[in-house]
Amino acid sequence: MSDADSINLLELDEIKVKLSGLQILDGVTIRVPHGLVTGLIGPNGAGKTTVFNVISGFVKQDSGSVTYDDKRLKHIKAHHLTKMGISRTLQGVGLFSTLTALENVMLGGSAQVRSGILSQSFAMPWTDVETERLRIAAMAALEEMGVADVANRLPSELPYPLQKKVALARALVCDPKLLLLDEPAGGVGAADMADLERLIRSWVPQRTVLLVEHHMELVMSVCDLIWVLDAGKVIAWGTPDEVRNDPAVLAAYLGEDGAA
Ligand SMILES: Nc1ncnc2c1ncn2[C@@H]1O[C@H](COP(=O)(O)OP(=O)(O)OP(=O)(O)O)[C@@H](O)[C@H]1O
Ligand SMILES: [Mg+2]
Repeated sequence: MSDADSINLLELDEIKVKLSGLQILDGVTIRVPHGLVTGLIGPNGAGKTTVFNVISGFVKQDSGSVTYDDKRLKHIKAHHLTKMGISRTLQGVGLFSTLTALENVMLGGSAQVRSGILSQSFAMPWTDVETERLRIAAMAALEEMGVADVANRLPSELPYPLQKKVALARALVCDPKLLLLDEPAGGVGAADMADLERLIRSWVPQRTVLLVEHHMELVMSVCDLIWVLDAGKVIAWGTPDEVRNDPAVLAAYLGEDGAA
């Protein structure tokens, strides 16, 4: 595995997860090479978000291993992620409704951030200097996303595509090595889609991206490598062209039995 160790930032090996008695992930092995955009696609309910939950420690696998930066991850707590250089956007938006866009993004730079659900005991125990540093970084991230002008607005005051951009800024603010994006194009229009594609490509190779997305045009144009999940198993992987023409993939999306 020494070759694989040097080219992959993230490796999942034979991950199994059972939830409520159902086998949600059934031996999932996925490789995410350094500095590329890797896609994770599959029909609704395939287990994509669960893969993200395993990587980020929200769900504990029953067996199998996760290796990040050549270290096996064990007992990962969500608040370790920022320190490890892993950042995640949630399916949907997941912004805190009572905080402004800027405050939401500042939270992304803080080790206090957990799953997108405000912890009951949440307080912002930052010193003035930390707060100022976070504010500057958060404004830069909002600027990178082209939404600095909404910094002081509440999420509910913003159209959905802008909320998604604020959520992306929140993921970027800690300068992550690995970005896990769960359906960033969901609810986003065609004009913003082109922006999103440009943005994602601008992050590599400095950053590594693992992208869950249903929008096939975006996936096929933005990804270097794609893994396809269906019913908790990897059914195909390869370049966009390889995956696009794979009979098992076509069958999974059509809801049919394998046609090969
Ligand atoms: N806590 C849970 N308990 C029981 N089943 C769960 C739980 N969480 C998810 N599931 C089930 O696991 C399966 C995979 O869910 P997951 O959210 O990972 O799919 P997904 O590929 O992200 O789907 P989508 O494209 O719709 O977001 C689904 O059938 C879902 O209903
Ligand atoms: Mg999902």
